[in-house]
Amino acid sequence: MPPIVLVLNGPNLNLLGSREPSVYGHETLADIADLCGRTAREHDLTVEFRQTNHEGEMLDWIHGARQRCAAIVINPAAWTHTSVAIRDALAASELPVIEVHLSNVHSREAFRHHSFVSGIAQAVLCGFGSNGYRLALEHLSQQFKR
Ligand code: DQA
Repeated sequence: MPPIVLVLNGPNLNLLGSREPSVYGHETLADIADLCGRTAREHDLTVEFRQTNHEGEMLDWIHGARQRCAAIVINPAAWTHTSVAIRDALAASELPVIEVHLSNVHSREAFRHHSFVSGIAQAVLCGFGSNGYRLALEHLSQQFKR
């Protein structure tokens, strides 16, 4: 059974494609889910791809990953900059966590420069667009083979 990687997406990412395309591009979340699915097949991973606008639901998914999954790739979206609860849940999962952002948060508003998640993440990818998700999965697949 290939290792399961939980790919989690936070609030407003369901609007990708129509949301601020000058910042986030024209790809939809379904396009990114397809990209993750293809990458998983190429690298012998199982990807579970999810999005929620509800923080409690996100916390429940992270809690459920602990026994079942090999790693978490997360774009926490706005919760990156606000949520100690998401950070604590990710830390409690004891899983490798890769934080992904489509945009380069450091070239944007000052409130996006701080991430509650980065301190417990194994790696952070930002500014690569949807490619960041692919890079995160490729990295994990190499790590699992070691
Ligand atoms: C984002 C960056 C966040 O600052 C923002 O709140 C998002 C998306 C990104 O993917 O670039 O919703 O995580």
